[in-house]
Amino acid sequence: MPHPEDVVLPRRRERFEERRKEASHRDLLDSFFDRPTLLAVSRLINQGKIDAVDFPIATGKEGGVFRATAGDGFRAVKIYRIGNSTFHNLPAYALEELRRETSVRNFGGLIFAWTRREHSILGRLHDAGVRAPHPYGHLRNCLVMEFVGSTAGAAPRLRDAVLDDPAAIYEQLVRQIGRMLRTARLVHGDLSPYNTLLFEGEIVLIDVAQAVSVDHPAARALLERDLGHYARFLTRAGHAVDPAEFFAAVGGDALAVPAPEAGR
Ligand SMILES: Nc1ncnc2c1ncn2[C@@H]1O[C@H](COP(=O)(O)OP(=O)(O)OP(=O)(O)O)[C@@H](O)[C@H]1O
Ligand SMILES: [Mg+2]
Repeated sequence: MPHPEDVVLPRRRERFEERRKEASHRDLLDSFFDRPTLLAVSRLINQGKIDAVDFPIATGKEGGVFRATAGDGFRAVKIYRIGNSTFHNLPAYALEELRRETSVRNFGGLIFAWTRREHSILGRLHDAGVRAPHPYGHLRNCLVMEFVGSTAGAAPRLRDAVLDDPAAIYEQLVRQIGRMLRTARLVHGDLSPYNTLLFEGEIVLIDVAQAVSVDHPAARALLERDLGHYARFLTRAGHAVDPAEFFAAVGGDALAVPAPEAGR
């Protein structure tokens, strides 16, 4: 079995000043790439989905997103950590949904189902014409998707981007979230300026695994919360957004008002 680094950082240079950085990379990689994950990455390479994993774009407790190279350009590979902390922050409704879809009894199985779910939701969004990363494949806890960015690096999150024209961002959000609702018939449920990238002036919605059907009893409340995050952000950025108007503009009024006993 190769060392994780040999698989995921084959083009590592031996430059002295990078040693320290590499040592911490190595710790990070060891914590992500346990043997089964490494094997999954190797299989994705054998399947031709990617040629190599290059470097981490973002890492957190629950997983990491890495830039990868493929024959015709870059990819992003999202890897969920296999561990019982991975689902600590998962909203109860999403976990419920997952358990209904899959009869999994262990964390590994849940995480694989979650990865598959993110892949299929990305596919549904793509079919609906929503700007989200195109899905290229998944295996175990690894998801291969379109890399949003260029040779200069990954696109910034909307949260970190310089907004020249917040009104234009609002219009795009209305269009994309509207399509997500009306055509894909999904509510994202974790939308915010953090789960939105800005690339070449266009917004890209990411981190979609917890999306629910518009028929879900929590859909309306989730949509309100999602839109509220943007409304506050855009208002602070100088474009006042009225939440009720925003809600109506994306087609939220068509969502069922849950009966009080429906629960969330
Ligand atoms: N397809 C992509 N192309 C480029 N960068 C991406 C892509 N997907 C994710 N990222 C980067 O990786 C970060 C984490 O991705 P994502 O939100 O999907 O994972 P997460 O596990 O939910 O992380 P977090 O807990 O930080 O939200 C994003 O904020 C973004 O910077
Ligand atoms: Mg996220």
